[in-house]
Amino acid sequence: MIQVVKHPLVQAKLTRLRSTTTSKTEFRRLVREITGLLVYAATADWETEVTIVQTPLAECRGTRLAGRVCCVTILRAGLAMEEGVQALIPDAETGIIGLYRDPATLEAVEYYRKLPPDIAECQVLLVDPMLATGHTLVKAVTALKQQNVGNLKLITILAAPEGVETLKDHFGDTVEIYTAALDAGLNEHGYILPGLGDAGDRIFGTR
Ligand code: URA
Repeated sequence: MIQVVKHPLVQAKLTRLRSTTTSKTEFRRLVREITGLLVYAATADWETEVTIVQTPLAECRGTRLAGRVCCVTILRAGLAMEEGVQALIPDAETGIIGLYRDPATLEAVEYYRKLPPDIAECQVLLVDPMLATGHTLVKAVTALKQQNVGNLKLITILAAPEGVETLKDHFGDTVEIYTAALDAGLNEHGYILPGLGDAGDRIFGTR
């Protein structure tokens, strides 16, 4: 299942994000903000439980999230998205998976993994700005499924149809994808078109 969040705020921010005139500072802020809006959409069906709070005037019945939440970030570009998740869900635990894309084969190579040992008990938000070939995310989702994660949503700023198909081939409908746009496709280097360029380089100013 893929949900493209068409909200005007998301689409206007995405347009700024794509532009070559957008500075590193603005790019990073936009990634955080779009992530927050995607998370807002992705968590709309999450269960809550009743909690009682004391206001300055009276006791009041309220709600809180029912379960634990873990945000799993894919290094390095996912880091800016993690800030967007933490802004909305400050109690979220953090998992990190380090993967790089071999430029020759476009295959993903894992070099780091640190997840909460009992992550299977959490509702997991996996964040990576670009669902391109899908190779990186296949590796990441496989790692999570090996730890019996069942409740998993992928938050990605942009998706390519090739990546969506790859995830579907591997995991069927068990990974719900929330994105700001489904772009046209990939170029020969595995970059999304029209896309926004290299998300990591634009977040960290490394080009
Ligand atoms: N990763 C990026 O940063 N950009 C793309 O277009 C594809 C993968």
